[in-house]
Amino acid sequence: MQRHLITAAIPYINGIKHLGNLVGSQLPADLYARYQRARGNEVLFLCATDEHGTPAELAAAKAGKPVAEYCAEMHTIQAEIAKGFRLSFDHFGRSSSPQNHALTQHFAGRLADEGLIREVVEKQVYSNADGRFLPDRYIEGTCPNCGYDKARGDQCENCTKQLDPTDLIEPRSAVSGSTDLEVRETKHLYLRQSALKDDLDAWIDSKTDWPILTTSIAKKWLHDGDGLQDRGITRDLDWGIPVRRGDAEWPGMEGKVFYVWFDAPIEYIACASEWADAQGHTDWERWWRTDKGAEDVRYTQFMGKDNVPFHTLSFPATILGSAEPWKMVDHLKSFNYLNYEGGQFSTSQGRGVFMDQALALLPADYWRWWLLSNCPETSDTEFTWELFQQGVNKDLADVLGNFASRVTKFCRSKFGETVPDGGTFGPQEEELITNLDTRIAKYSEMMDAMEVRKSAQELRAIWVAGNEYLQAAAPWATIKEDEAKAAMQIRLGLNLIALYAVLSAPFIPDAATRMQDAMQPGDTDWPTSARAALTQLPEGHAFTVPDNLFAKVTDDQREEWTAQFSGVRE
Ligand code: 2FM
Ligand code: ZN
Repeated sequence: MQRHLITAAIPYINGIKHLGNLVGSQLPADLYARYQRARGNEVLFLCATDEHGTPAELAAAKAGKPVAEYCAEMHTIQAEIAKGFRLSFDHFGRSSSPQNHALTQHFAGRLADEGLIREVVEKQVYSNADGRFLPDRYIEGTCPNCGYDKARGDQCENCTKQLDPTDLIEPRSAVSGSTDLEVRETKHLYLRQSALKDDLDAWIDSKTDWPILTTSIAKKWLHDGDGLQDRGITRDLDWGIPVRRGDAEWPGMEGKVFYVWFDAPIEYIACASEWADAQGHTDWERWWRTDKGAEDVRYTQFMGKDNVPFHTLSFPATILGSAEPWKMVDHLKSFNYLNYEGGQFSTSQGRGVFMDQALALLPADYWRWWLLSNCPETSDTEFTWELFQQGVNKDLADVLGNFASRVTKFCRSKFGETVPDGGTFGPQEEELITNLDTRIAKYSEMMDAMEVRKSAQELRAIWVAGNEYLQAAAPWATIKEDEAKAAMQIRLGLNLIALYAVLSAPFIPDAATRMQDAMQPGDTDWPTSARAALTQLPEGHAFTVPDNLFAKVTDDQREEWTAQFSGVRE
């Protein structure tokens, strides 16, 4: 039995995520977790909300709530929606947990002990009206380059020029609009990533099975320009993990917190500790410490491409720098972007379909299937309502749903609701078995390799093979001449439904459960032989006819939804 630690990039707390976020990490991670469990492997699948940083503070302010309260509420909402999509996290944690506070402070202490932290005095803009330092992008003003009057302190959106806040003409606080700003000195901690460059280089070189996209991004950051920069890991904010050196105070750092991108990946580890606490045991280090049993764990991370540098350099720098035996990532699966109807999905602009809205329209399986079978794996891909309608109707309703319905209804009307006996396999069935053996092997190989789209193609081909068999065997015609042969054909069809339940479960878990509930197979193990799988349900075994597995998306619905989601969400 293998042991798989799987993490999905932890979503920001400030609002409900859109379908592009979902397909870029949590959904494919869930597919892989479900598959590995189905193969009989031990899995720990973790995700959490990413709760710190200025965006969280501002979202809370906008909602008129204390930030801790806002985060607690949003966490519950995101957890509920994740359940709705059947994301099978073993634990959905919070980066604001006490466990993450302790662990983040521990790592900072270790890095300091290893001589990898330096203190830097910087000049930063302070807003007297807001009573706080402002991060660069929360200072607005007129761009000195193009005159755009809503340029941000880090960059002008209009002409894309990189800026310093002091470049802005008539700067003001984006939080309150106040122009009562001054430059003050403030002290911050920097992680000396440059000192870890050789270690990181060697570690990345050891990852010979990583996709080129991943290693090239990492190498670019390591070697381009001035190479790996030291990184500020603290901020002047109220909300976050207080800066401490392990258990001890950090003189001069009172009132400061760690930078959100420092503590967020540490939550991957803290989440395992939260999971153990929730389960009432303490046995989590066997997943994370190579000196405590994690040396045989295979650790896979899922994320969007914009997250790759943080996961190939920053987080590994934290771990390597700690000089402690923490488990490091083995495989990193990253995704491109899913676009929406010719533009981008956008949280800030409320553009596209958000997770809660999607579930209000259709059950999870429809979305899971379409998003996974069209996921932006090798390039960006596009969601349109037309493509969605086509994919769902063709694959789920016409192929899989139709097959299950025809087989069970035909059997009920001719033989009753038990598996009929009589007849033996002939050439058509032998051909199907050979075909299925090849396809199941290929499907499993693609799932092992996390080739999401290719896996979906293979699964679809397995469904199509059943449909084509049924069409060619035509038990409704056979029964007129040879009842035993028709019984054999339909027995095979019923067994195929049970087989489909097992193979389809990682993609469409609810439909799989319904197929399983209808067929009541004794064995739900991943198939090793098509013949064994297709002779599994014995003659006389009772089944029920499932309700329609999938309804078609109608043209009216497509038009209505296209219109409904053409604007922006409030
Ligand atoms: O891009 C994002 O949505 C981040 N919240 C991902 C963080 S992943 C990790 F580092 F925890
Ligand atoms: Zn400009």
